[in-house]
Amino acid sequence: MEVSETIESVREFVKAARSEGKRIGLVPTMGALHIGHTSLIEAAVKQCGFVVVSIFVNPTQFGPGEDFENYPRPVEADLEICRKLGTDVVFMPKPEVMYAGENLTWVKVEKLTKSLCGRNRPEHFRGVTTVCTKLFNIIGPDAAYFGQKDAQQSIVIKKMVADLDMPLEIVVCPTVREPDGLAVSSRNKYLTDKQRKEATCLYESLQKCRKMIDAGTRDAQEIIREMRGILSRPTSAKIDYVSIVDTETLRDVDDIKGKVLAAVAVKIGDARLIDNIVIDLSEQ
Ligand code: PAJ
Repeated sequence: MEVSETIESVREFVKAARSEGKRIGLVPTMGALHIGHTSLIEAAVKQCGFVVVSIFVNPTQFGPGEDFENYPRPVEADLEICRKLGTDVVFMPKPEVMYAGENLTWVKVEKLTKSLCGRNRPEHFRGVTTVCTKLFNIIGPDAAYFGQKDAQQSIVIKKMVADLDMPLEIVVCPTVREPDGLAVSSRNKYLTDKQRKEATCLYESLQKCRKMIDAGTRDAQEIIREMRGILSRPTSAKIDYVSIVDTETLRDVDDIKGKVLAAVAVKIGDARLIDNIVIDLSEQ
């Protein structure tokens, strides 16, 4: 496995692989790799002849007062995980390599970035779409792998790729969970033991949503009220949002029909946690 810190060197590795006719897969990450990330790397290794994992804690997607400085950066452990999974190149640029000089050019997806996480993190998605565009331009992958865990991110990236005719496929892999249902996240590390137990309320609220819909409830507000009840129980929890939205527009729905995304964001202690499920009634 190669480790590349410069744009020139990663391009050379990819160029050589492409000349051998290999399908190039990219897994963009911010490191602190866990089984959520490894599921993406495994999918990429299965489907592509050459896999690049990028590890870059992207400063432009963090807001003021967020955890950019404290974000975990266990480089050696991350490299070991990538090596074991059969990654070909880890692209690990320093911030000054990715953002040389003042950045005056941004890629911004409208509308879809206003709701859910975009409401309280106004510049977040601009940072994500800009860095992903840069990674796509640097590496030129045939396919890039994202997780359903960050549902809005995957939807925004897919729209960007479609709108800007970017020549790659976006593959979205299922959310990997702990045995008690908590979605695996680098930010789970911030939780105390007590908060870790309380954090199961996110998944519990989503299960409640699914059960109510299965039982025939179609009033989104009625479901959201129940979900909020579950999420308000732990003393350490502070709800950011509980939403049921259309999977294409990401706008709130009043009546549940077709395909909807139920999504929650809750601050538990110092950790801002998100989770979601998709419910598809379109074939019923
Ligand atoms: P990061 O939070 O490191 O996540 C990298 C990828 O792993 C994302 O596509 C995310 O959805 C996926 N992922 C995280 N936890 C997961 C889980 N439990 N199950 C399945 N997939 C999971 O998301 C980012 O980094 C950044 O915004 C990035 C796209 C790298 C741009 O900087």
